[in-house]
Amino acid sequence: MNIDGIPTRSLRAHPAQRCIDIIDQARLPHVLHWARVSTLDEAAHAIRAMQVRGAPLIGATAAYGLAIALNEQADDARLNAAVDLLWKTRPTAVNLHWALTRMSRLLSELPAEQRCAAAWAEAAAIAEEDVAQNAAIGQHGLGLLRQVTRRHGTTLNIMTHCNAGWLATVDGGTALAPVYAAYDAGLPVHVWVSETRPRNQGLLTAWELAQHGVPHTLIADNAAGILLQQGKVDAVIVGADRIASNGDAANKVGTYLKGLACADNGVPFYVAAPRSTVDFDLPGGQHIPIEERDGDEFRLVHGLDSRGVPSALHQLPAKEAVVNPAFDVTPARLITALITERGVCPASRDGLLGLYPEEAGV
Ligand code: MRU
Repeated sequence: MNIDGIPTRSLRAHPAQRCIDIIDQARLPHVLHWARVSTLDEAAHAIRAMQVRGAPLIGATAAYGLAIALNEQADDARLNAAVDLLWKTRPTAVNLHWALTRMSRLLSELPAEQRCAAAWAEAAAIAEEDVAQNAAIGQHGLGLLRQVTRRHGTTLNIMTHCNAGWLATVDGGTALAPVYAAYDAGLPVHVWVSETRPRNQGLLTAWELAQHGVPHTLIADNAAGILLQQGKVDAVIVGADRIASNGDAANKVGTYLKGLACADNGVPFYVAAPRSTVDFDLPGGQHIPIEERDGDEFRLVHGLDSRGVPSALHQLPAKEAVVNPAFDVTPARLITALITERGVCPASRDGLLGLYPEEAGV
């Protein structure tokens, strides 16, 4: 997509120098800072510390992290240790495990001296596929959005949660791909952006949409219900971090409440994600591991100022009890449809297998 009108991706690979550059999303939207990742530990840290975030981007970064890990040494011990380290960086987004499984299956079959070059090529293939799949998600979602009933004049009011835009992917976004496609096709689209406490990924969404010129309005997470009741939302589109084989979808905490409120108000609720987000091994959403993050995400108001200094407005006492699940699971029955790179399907095992028949044996 674009930053100040200049085409950009969220990740730039430099295979000749054996390193990548990432946008440090922990600093956005306050500061746009590109960080160089040239060691395995830096790649693992970037994922763990959410310098990169969003399921597809985590997967692509892990793939490149593995390639970086093999720069100097590529025997079985190094390969397995690197996969193990990256595998444990975050638990919920299955794209991480999908990418590492794909990489290690390929690499373990090769002699050590061929692994590094093959790893860089495969990581690039994963990144390119992500971009192409998001473009397809955008077109399939656009088809849906053209049919959505507009409740408030001619404007097409979409609500989203968290950030599932180009920042959360290599490029193009998942939930925001149909929004960008609609805007580019000339539809009068407006986006309600929920702030997404405690990490405020909604601010990343607002920043992205502003860069593209898409009209949008930031709301507190808890304002979603009243806007839905007032008929100010025509559809909700969110991304996903893991979709179980029955269509249950884990996404940023707070998504489930939007699903409930959509059902109560007859508003369609769509989940947009590629194949790499579907975990065909899991029968239902109750098996999805939910990341529990540090309570300091609540004790501090997050953000770095232009000098890179935390802009904490206040700090709660450390003894204050905090529970901080980062994701929740929206049951399939609340999801109107899944939007994937292969098309739109019901959120169900049959729906998913209709699009991915090759997974039927799983
Ligand atoms: O914790 P994050 O920021 O890595 O969470 C991931 C997300 O951005 C979302 O849950 C998103 O909606 C799905 S990933 C495209």
